[in-house]
Parts: sequence; C-alpha cells; structure tokens
Amino acid sequence: MKMELKKRNIPGPKSAELLKISEKYEPPCMADQVPVVWDHGEGVWVTDVDGNRYIDFTSGVLVTNLGHSHPHHVEAIQNQAGRLMNCYSFPTPERIKISQRVIDLLPPNLDKIFLLTTGAEGTEAALRIARRYTGKHEILSFYGGFHGRTYGPIGVAGSVGTRYKFGPSVPGGIMAPYANCFRCFYDKVYPDCDFYCIKQLDRIIDSSSSGDVGTVITEPYQGGAGFIFPPDGWLKALEKWAKKRGLLFIVDEVQSSFGRTGKMFMIEWEDIQPNMLCLGKGFGSGMPASGLVGETKIFDCMNRGEMSSTTGGNPMASAASWAVIDVLEDEKLPQNALKIGEYLFKRFKELQKTHPLLGDVRGKGLVMGLEIVEDQDLNKPAPELTRKIIFKCGENGMLLGRVGLHGNVIRIAPPLLITEEEAEIGVAIMDKVLQEVENE
Ligand SMILES: Cc1ncc(COP(=O)(O)O)c(C=O)c1O
Repeated sequence: MKMELKKRNIPGPKSAELLKISEKYEPPCMADQVPVVWDHGEGVWVTDVDGNRYIDFTSGVLVTNLGHSHPHHVEAIQNQAGRLMNCYSFPTPERIKISQRVIDLLPPNLDKIFLLTTGAEGTEAALRIARRYTGKHEILSFYGGFHGRTYGPIGVAGSVGTRYKFGPSVPGGIMAPYANCFRCFYDKVYPDCDFYCIKQLDRIIDSSSSGDVGTVITEPYQGGAGFIFPPDGWLKALEKWAKKRGLLFIVDEVQSSFGRTGKMFMIEWEDIQPNMLCLGKGFGSGMPASGLVGETKIFDCMNRGEMSSTTGGNPMASAASWAVIDVLEDEKLPQNALKIGEYLFKRFKELQKTHPLLGDVRGKGLVMGLEIVEDQDLNKPAPELTRKIIFKCGENGMLLGRVGLHGNVIRIAPPLLITEEEAEIGVAIMDKVLQEVENE
C-alpha cells in the first residue's frame, strides 16, 4: 500500500463539521490532537471522514499493536459478540483461558491475574492491594511517572499535569528522580554516575518517610514524561534495591506490554521479577482490556468479593486478548517491532544530524521519542514548534502524538506490523516537515 507525499488541507469539510459539533458537546480537556476525524483503519493506515489517508504513527496511544482491524482480531470479536458479551463475575471459558495464557508467558512468581478494563483500574488495584498486603501506606514512585488519572495513581504521579489543582491526592506518595539521562536531575553522566540515582533512594526515603514505606512503583520507561528510557541495568538495579529494602516491587507495563519494545513484556529485557505487574493498552489492541498480575500470596490478602469490576474480564475482551496473543506470536510482531524499531531509530538518528530542531532521539523497539528543542546545544524544549511539526506531519499524511513534561516530545509508536517501506514513508514526511519548519 503506497502513498505519495501529497499535502492535504486539514481538517477537511466533513471533519470540520463534526469537530464543530464536538466543540459544542465534548469537553476541551480531551487530548490535543491534529484536527482529523477518523473513519476507518486498516493495518498502519487510517482514513478520515473526508477520505484522506494517513500513516498512523500513534497506534491510538500505543494501543492497536496489531494494527487497525486485523482480520483475526475482528473475527474473534465478532464471533464472541454473537455468543456472550458480559456476565460480570461469572466465569467464562474465555476469561479462564486467557488468564492461564498470560500467566504462562510470565515469570513463575507471577501466578495470578485479575482482569480489568483500563490501565488506571489496574494500577489503582495494584496500589490498593499493596497497602493491604504490606500493611504500609507509603509508596515510592518517580518524578515524571504516569500511572493513570484516577485518585490512587495520581497520588504516585510525578507529572505536574496529572495532579495540577486537584488538591491533595491519596497520601503516602514519596517521589524520587527517575533515570532521565538526557536531563539528569543530579547533573551526572551515565555510566560514570554508577546509578547515583539509585544510591540516593535510601536517603530520599529516610528523609521523607514516616517509617511506613512498603512499596515502589515504576514504569520500565516513562511514556507520559516524554519517552524517558533509563539506561540498561537501571530497572534491575532498582529491583535489587527494592528487594533488599523489603519493598514490594510493582512494574507498570500498561504501555510497554504486548510486544511494543521488541519482547512480549519489557521486564524480559533484564529478567525482572516484579511482585505485581500492570498490563493494558495492547492487551486488547483496541478492545478495553487490562490486567493486574501478581503473586498468590499477595492476592490472598484480599477477601472474596473485595475486588470486582463490572466489565473486567468480560468474554468480548477476553476473546479479543486471546486473538492479540495469537497474532503477536504467529506473525512474530515483537520481533518485527525490534527489527523495524532498529531501522527507524537509525533513520531518525540520521535526521538528527541535519535537523538542529531534533534534540534527542530515544527508544526501544517500536516506541520512540523525538525531542524537539529550540537549539540543539541548549536543549531548550520547544513545545509550540512540536505542535506545529505534528500538525504539518498531519497535513502531509502522518499522524503523531505529543507528550513530555515540557510538551516537546513527538511520540513515535506505529502498529507493530509496520513494514520497512511504510516506516520510510514516515521518515520522509518527518524529514520534509522539519526542513519546512527550519526554513520558516
Ligand atoms: C504507564 C501507564 N500506566 C497507566 C496508564 C493508564 O491507562 P488508561 O488510560 O487505560 O487508564 C497509562 C496510560 O497512558 C500508562 O501509560
């Protein structure tokens, strides 16, 4: 499926008409997107209501790992929809079987899964259970961290936008600097720093805890903060530190799971064995599905009936998740994510040499951040230019997202079945747009 680098006016007339209605009936606090109303998708391609085609470098927000409307996924959902959609907490073969299949993919200590609907529902449940199990209410988390928008997760969120003017959140959150080597909090340089940020954790806890810290929660890379990838070995060092200190270790893989970084789960890269693991997004590849995985001894602290979710583990979502794993395995999508990810990373690094606005390129597999700066030397974030670049890429047929503590990171996260040829279309559009913006 080829496409020429043809410019289009966005929004087209049908999109514009619908966006006017949206403005009237939908709150403006929803995500800031290029003004395009999606109509349908196929693979890595999306068509808007005006008939314009775009290459999708967002996967929604790292959700549609299989690409849009993968036939096997669609068939599984259609078949299930005609049989049974919901039965609340009554067991179904679909729920039981997908639970076993996910557990079989994970380290042996993670032997139970509680199926839920959204990522925040999973992290919320993890925090709740951690407090019950440890009997301690304080939780260590990281600057820049994002774990969802409900009150438990915002109590451990390290991003200003998540908690701004919402008043006090759930007490007990203690924050520490993340391993952000591009803007190191301690002005250290990796690897000479020898994980100074891990070494400081005891000091941070000792100086801010009431003596009741029981848990640490982290993302394996920080998505919302602007795709901050810690150096190799950091997550392992954190796990070791947490276990030595007797803390429950929770890894939030809502974003990174199901093939995104080139392995089914990102914890596999460093052989991490968290006590609880949060899954989401790609688990349903478009169907709302999430999961909290943990150890039997931990889940046993909850009494029967103390955890429930009206649509969690419903047969539709379970059947969809089953098909997701089928496709990831059969089509070797994690491997493709690694291969095309390496190619894209190399190509964006090449663009960096000729585009001073491109301050940093970082990523793993098919998730990358392009940091846009005013001046490559000063590394001064340029959020407005970032917005402009994303808009212009939209005009040229490529859909992107914007993230980051400073709003200056372009999210590169196409569906995992993208080919090298399709990846190159994205690179060509980005090259052209950066050139245009730099010449203005
Ligand atoms: C790491 C992480 N945790 C939790 C969430 C929340 O997921 P949801 O939006 O499905 O509630 C997100 C969403 O972006 C995320 O990236």
